Amino acid sequence: MTQEWVTKVIDEIAQFGKRDCGIYREAFSEADDKARNYIIELMKQVGLKVRTDEIGNIIGRLEVGDNKAPAVVTGSHLDTVPGGSKYDGVIGVVGGLAAILRLKERKVTQPLELIVFAAEESSRFMFATMGSKAMIGRSNINSWRKAKDKNDISFVEVMSSRGLDINNIDKAARSKDAIKAFVELHIEQGNTLVSKPAAIGIVDVVAAPTRLKITVDGLANYSGTTPMNIRRDALVSASMIVLAIQEIALEQSYYGTVATVGALKVHPGAINVIPGQVEMWVDIRGVNHSSIIECLQEIKDAVSTVAEGQDTSMSIEMLSSEKPVEMDKEVAKIIENVCDSKGLSYVQMNSGAGHDAMNMAFLAPTGMIFIPSYNDISHCADEYATPNDIETGIQVLTETLFQLAK
Ligand code: GLV
Ligand code: MN
Ligand code: MN
Repeated sequence: MTQEWVTKVIDEIAQFGKRDCGIYREAFSEADDKARNYIIELMKQVGLKVRTDEIGNIIGRLEVGDNKAPAVVTGSHLDTVPGGSKYDGVIGVVGGLAAILRLKERKVTQPLELIVFAAEESSRFMFATMGSKAMIGRSNINSWRKAKDKNDISFVEVMSSRGLDINNIDKAARSKDAIKAFVELHIEQGNTLVSKPAAIGIVDVVAAPTRLKITVDGLANYSGTTPMNIRRDALVSASMIVLAIQEIALEQSYYGTVATVGALKVHPGAINVIPGQVEMWVDIRGVNHSSIIECLQEIKDAVSTVAEGQDTSMSIEMLSSEKPVEMDKEVAKIIENVCDSKGLSYVQMNSGAGHDAMNMAFLAPTGMIFIPSYNDISHCADEYATPNDIETGIQVLTETLFQLAK
């Protein structure tokens, strides 16, 4: 599978959900479904045995040698953020497939698997890496049952429209014996590799996200007749919280912590009605757990202060809280040796972005290979990786999988 083949497949996948302003292939959308069907067909064509599990993870297996041996696994995701790029996740899927096919000719003793994880991006249902969480047996069914997208379509509903039943999600869990190691290839989505510069990033720690939903209740009232001094405007209070969170995160940025309010729903959302309720979603990331805890405490304090001062009640719901996850040192060492043998420059680095690898690390020794990301921009249409860097990443992945599977 040549570099040209990889570029062609990445470009073909990019057609699913493509709009002028980026790719809209949110989890379980029609475009996501089309991309998934495309990859399933391709995986079958090239000789993988393909199955889909109870949450929609696609698992393609190349049987070699002893069928019962634990598999050496690679993979990533095809769903995108709204207005995303053609690289985030896709490089790990297409690169993973290319790597497995390149290994077909070589003597490996373990089966090889490519996994296309379902619902990696949290942009649709506010929960991240749902497919890999289900695969490690850490699904959060009670919360997922309540999850809705911005059009009020529930996760349960989209699952059943795809022939999946939320009550069966637990069956997607795999045992530790089934997987020998997991390695994910991904675009860095930061500027470490370009600024060093280095060809490859070997990930030490993945910064798992902590997510909150804050609901602010004020009083909806007529914008024309309600005097300013008696208003209980939920959006005004929410805005104070947004600014407070920015301040708090700036203080914690010394530890590499970041926090974002990325989504707001204003009710009733009319130009002539004072906002009566605001729902806001907060995403906190970092690799220093105590800093994240401090951030959380300060956000809680800020919420109480604003609620009191503005006479608007507020509630905080913890959607997810995950600790930063360390990658396996031995897998990292293998990647390092592969880079050395190829004369490639590399750096050990942390990942600010979340990845399915952070879940797979609970199931098997796990590593991540990053390739450079250009233009200082990511989770948007201008995110960019060069074909040559993608090829280098695939070569490192191929050799790493070989070392693990030989
Ligand atoms: C993945 O893209 C994330 O938002 O962490
Ligand atoms: Mn992403
Ligand atoms: Mn990704």
